[in-house]
Amino acid sequence: RIYKRQMICRSDIDQLNAPFLAIYETLKPAEEEKAKQKQLLTLLETLVSKEWPTARLYLYGSCANSFGVSKSDIDVCLAIEEADVDKSKILLKLADILQADNLQNVQALTRARVPIVKLMDPVTGILCDICINNVLAVVNTKLLRDYAQIDERLRQLTFIVKHWAKSRGVNETYQGTLSSYAYVLMCIHFLQQRRPAILPCLQEMETTYSVTVDEVKCAYFDQVEKLGDFGRRNSETIAQLVWAFFNYWAYRHDYANAVISVRTGSLLSKQEKDWTRRIGNDRHLICIEDPFETSHDLGRVVDKYSIKVLREEFERAAHIMQYDPNPCVKLFECF
Ligand code: CTP
Ligand code: MG
Repeated sequence: RIYKRQMICRSDIDQLNAPFLAIYETLKPAEEEKAKQKQLLTLLETLVSKEWPTARLYLYGSCANSFGVSKSDIDVCLAIEEADVDKSKILLKLADILQADNLQNVQALTRARVPIVKLMDPVTGILCDICINNVLAVVNTKLLRDYAQIDERLRQLTFIVKHWAKSRGVNETYQGTLSSYAYVLMCIHFLQQRRPAILPCLQEMETTYSVTVDEVKCAYFDQVEKLGDFGRRNSETIAQLVWAFFNYWAYRHDYANAVISVRTGSLLSKQEKDWTRRIGNDRHLICIEDPFETSHDLGRVVDKYSIKVLREEFERAAHIMQYDPNPCVKLFECF
């Protein structure tokens, strides 16, 4: 590897706080964007309820988990309670209904891994994907949103990490790099691990919210407003955290043995997850446990080529954070 192992942060690190916070502010969506999304959701609800009176629509993904940058697409889940739901049939029907109401570029992708209908709202220009009965995604969206309310540094760190990942081309699951969802989990886990901790482990606390979805029990403490300033004893700044995040993934994570787990707020071993060898396409080269579907490794998309790309990008970022005179420019230079 070309970069040296680093442990001690540069002395001028806190001069980077202002520029990082400025980047965060420019990425953050404005309030009126939320209002437009709401408006589109209301329209969709009206159309859907005519055909399926008991069905419900939920927002999930970055438009609802509070980690969405300005002008993101919105992800919607149509929850239908029918014994045997033929998703393709419903999606095709839904596409007809939407088209008839003048929504633009309506497309049913019935053979995708997650089948969806895509559309564009001609009034607001918002792009939208609608899937069916992906209720676990709605629940994990709530978990992420609840974590975001505990300490603002989570949202700041995640925006910067997602922006870096998109700029550097390592947020492409079809090319073997990680999803945005995986990056959010990496940030939550990282802040759970700081000493003193910046985030608690909500799934290890008293249960105040519990649902069972697709036979998966999802339970955790969701009264996060009661946690007040949980992270106040830790005074690390955003620049220090960005530095430490990349340092961790570049030089400190044990890729051979460790699994990061937001569910337990700790590191698990590949051994105990039985993720020690390749099964089918799951290679477990970087292991990120899904908080509810615990048999899911969000790193499963990563292959022997893309793991190199990822680790080199982490090292590049760590090196820039340590030595570059202008990290806030260099870090996000397009790939
Ligand atoms: N999701 C999931 N399991 C995955 C990937 C995604 O459950 N392996 C769900 C999560 O609820 C996630 C949502 O799908 O919030 C959208 O995933 P993704 O597109 O990765 O994240 P976004 O937050 O929408 O990010 P972006 O801003 O890049 O659209
Ligand atoms: Mg999305």
